Amino acid sequence: MSGELSPIDKAKFVAAKRAVDFVEDGMRVGLGTGSTAAWMVRCLGELVREDGLRIKGVPTSSRTAELARDCGITVVSLDEARWLDLTIDGADEFDQDLNLIKGGGGALLQEKIVATASDQMIVIADVGKEVEHLGHFPLPLEVIPFGWQTTQALAEEMLISMDVLGRQSSLRMNGAAPYVTDEGNYILDLHLNRIGNARQLAMVLNQIPGVVENGLFIDICDKVVVGFGDGRVEVR
Ligand code: 5RP
Repeated sequence: MSGELSPIDKAKFVAAKRAVDFVEDGMRVGLGTGSTAAWMVRCLGELVREDGLRIKGVPTSSRTAELARDCGITVVSLDEARWLDLTIDGADEFDQDLNLIKGGGGALLQEKIVATASDQMIVIADVGKEVEHLGHFPLPLEVIPFGWQTTQALAEEMLISMDVLGRQSSLRMNGAAPYVTDEGNYILDLHLNRIGNARQLAMVLNQIPGVVENGLFIDICDKVVVGFGDGRVEVR
């Protein structure tokens, strides 16, 4: 399945392959979004087709739902599953406390809902996602389209009042039009450089009317499976 891969794709693949070892027969599994999560879905699909693994998958985006079905995984909604045994997803950054920035692929809302409704969340990532301090990767903020510029101004004011280093934000685009999430919302990317108090920032951002969710995952992730370009894997 993996063929000839670049070091970064190899790192993503080996992390994904190791993470599916944690999936047991009969589990309800949250399926993340992104290129690393796509490897995990393919690996799970292989186990379903070739080893008869029986799982129910709850996808975190329309993209993942399509891939999971193509791979032969039984797809159910979160409301059908109600509660999940395990979610496996990628991340844009993780720190030593296993706090994350997610949403680079625009699926942070469903990803946070699904991960929060799981007994366990395992993140799969290439080692380049490991950081000392969160914030170098722009923090995604999902906002409703109505009044999004007002929401953006309020978010920037809030960043100033919190003394956050970077205060610039940009509307995520898809060509000439705003990027639209599966829920029909927009994404503002906050260019912060370094986040001091991620827990406080996550809470304060969600107080702004118009903000649906932010990409900080605090105390949600239980384990990170880290892949390296030479094929090594570490579980943190
Ligand atoms: C999507 C996400 C992804 O998990 C994150 O962007 C990592 O993606 P990739 O595995 O492609 O690097 O949060 O919303």
